[in-house]
Amino acid sequence: MANWIPLGNAYEISPGTRKAYTVKGTEIAVFHVADGDQPGTFYAIDNACPHQGASLIEGEGCGTEVTCPLHDWNFDVATGECHDFPDFALTRFDLKVETGVLMVDGAAFGDPGPPANLFLVRYGAMGWVDHFSAEPEDDYPHRTAVLLETSRGEEVGEILSAVGQMEKPPTAAGSIVREFTPTDQSALTSQEDVTARVFQDCQTLIQERGMPTEIIDCEQLFDQQTVVLYYLGSRMPALEILAQELNANYTWRIVFHPVDEAPAASSCSSGGGGCGCNEK
Ligand code: FES
Repeated sequence: MANWIPLGNAYEISPGTRKAYTVKGTEIAVFHVADGDQPGTFYAIDNACPHQGASLIEGEGCGTEVTCPLHDWNFDVATGECHDFPDFALTRFDLKVETGVLMVDGAAFGDPGPPANLFLVRYGAMGWVDHFSAEPEDDYPHRTAVLLETSRGEEVGEILSAVGQMEKPPTAAGSIVREFTPTDQSALTSQEDVTARVFQDCQTLIQERGMPTEIIDCEQLFDQQTVVLYYLGSRMPALEILAQELNANYTWRIVFHPVDEAPAASSCSSGGGGCGCNEK
């Protein structure tokens, strides 16, 4: 059932402009999309980019399009669609204007729940450091090996520190599943290492096609289903075609990942990027 919360007077957002509000601890961005000076339609989205949490209200764009100021992902605020990576849609909220007052449906926000139990974790072949959420009762000492759920799959990480309670907790990159066990370690050790083969096959194809992409490294995730190829160069359609071809040849999911960009936040985490250009 809708639970309408007043935001303010609708006239405060002139046609073609946008404004941020905080509702139940969530910052939302309201866009007034209009043709010229005529009143148009209001759209509300979570202001944190689903990639790495940049403020979308600061993005450029016209009509219903907005481009994230951090990595240029392009979104449609009317549909929530992410044109670059369809798996990373915006969170949208219902709005209405009643007697000139702009109102948002508070039912979609739910209860804020207990404060997030966050840890700083180092993970991935590139040694990224980011926040991961854990169960409220979980505690992990410095340098504990943990199993993580990220946007790329299941992988191994190392605890650096616990993060104290924060008024505005950062977006978690994923969640901590549990401490890494001796059984996990033997499963990891017994994995067939396919990275050298994938790395070589990919480099050969890139050279044959004259692509301006350099493969820097290759990583096999703990889930034994995902192989990540790190590259230097721009994201281009030819890379996506190559990924599809490799995916058709292997039983693992092949993901290309720019070496200078941390992975996307997992949709199962408490917040907001990576770019699996190729989901299997
Ligand atoms: S934070 Fe928005 S595209 Fe990266």
